[in-house]
Amino acid sequence: MNKVALYCRSGFEKECAAEITAKAAKLEIFGFARVKEDSGYVIFECYQPEDADRLAKEIPFRELIFARQLIVVGELLKDLPPEDRVSPIVGMLHGVITNGGELRVEMPDTNESKELTKFCRKLTVPLRSAMREQRILGKRENSLRPVVHVFFIASGCCYVGYSYSNNNSTFYMGIPRLKFPSEAPSRSTLKLEEAFHVFIPADEWEERLASGMYAVDLGACPGGWTYQLVQRSMMVTAIDNGPMAQSLMDTGQVIHLKEDAFRYKSTSWKNYWLVCDVVEKPAKVAALMCDWLVNGWCREAIFNLKLPMKKRYEEVTNILERIKERLEENHIHAEIFAKHLYHDREEVTVHVRRFWATVGGRRDER
Ligand SMILES: C[S@@+](CC[C@H](N)C(=O)[O-])C[C@H]1O[C@@H](n2cnc3c(N)ncnc32)[C@H](O)[C@@H]1O
Repeated sequence: MNKVALYCRSGFEKECAAEITAKAAKLEIFGFARVKEDSGYVIFECYQPEDADRLAKEIPFRELIFARQLIVVGELLKDLPPEDRVSPIVGMLHGVITNGGELRVEMPDTNESKELTKFCRKLTVPLRSAMREQRILGKRENSLRPVVHVFFIASGCCYVGYSYSNNNSTFYMGIPRLKFPSEAPSRSTLKLEEAFHVFIPADEWEERLASGMYAVDLGACPGGWTYQLVQRSMMVTAIDNGPMAQSLMDTGQVIHLKEDAFRYKSTSWKNYWLVCDVVEKPAKVAALMCDWLVNGWCREAIFNLKLPMKKRYEEVTNILERIKERLEENHIHAEIFAKHLYHDREEVTVHVRRFWATVGGRRDER
């Protein structure tokens, strides 16, 4: 198998292709990306057959911004016979995977592909039992073993392959399924919830999204993001000139300050979280986030960067690089990740975790 398939939001195939081409080249893996606009996926074909597997292992999946999933695949299977679609699919995996941990029968996230949902669900049962019989899948689900993917781009037409469970998205189609909480004041609440799922490992939630923590929400109104923090029993300072949902104010966990996010200065050292959904130029938002992180006014930050009309991958990369440089110049040890989330449209969501600063050669935890 000499290709990888990357799932992305429809309309962002060029960004996804530019990113995989650039990041593969850094590993000295060369190939070419096949892009079909608005298809919701990209195929990157490696010149060396074994390089596809290397990509799946060596490109840290969490560092990919525009890809929701990355899987190693073989040639496109076309014209699957309706009376037996299972055999050719299973045949593709012989000698490639044994004892896989899970099967996902998937499709691109596009309107046209929605009609494949039922079909994929129906096919999963016979595929799974055939794969178990042939030992392609293990007897039981195992989250430590590779995931087998069958990716349908039309009803008789699919890519078959795998991803490594320690370097993939754990979500079906790379999309966390979240339910809109009816009492939340805005739909963008799902964006912050998704960011928590994507950036914070589930076994660290108790420590990093803990009850009693202090948080600041810049550009908070009407309060969808604040709602997520309040739900986790945090105390929130919400900065925005707009009106905040009364239901949130009634919790007694929210202080609402009608101030400009770019002028507001925190006087408290207690804040652990900073979240920011202000709609502004990305460079301006990034600079503000750096101020907070450099000054130690928060430990972790989640914020949006609006995407430009053109050269979206290059622009995002430049801004992330500037954030990295600014933190390094100030001796801040941090990790920075960005993702084009399912709930993001013309923006990406960035997460920065500040570990410590080096002050006078010593490690300063604050
Ligand atoms: C996309 S909305 C935020 C939605 C919010 N995260 C939610 O989930 O309900 C952007 C908000 O940023 C606010 N805003 C824009 N510029 C601002 C600034 N300079 N200072 C504070 N708030 C600002 C707007 O008033 C608006 O309420």
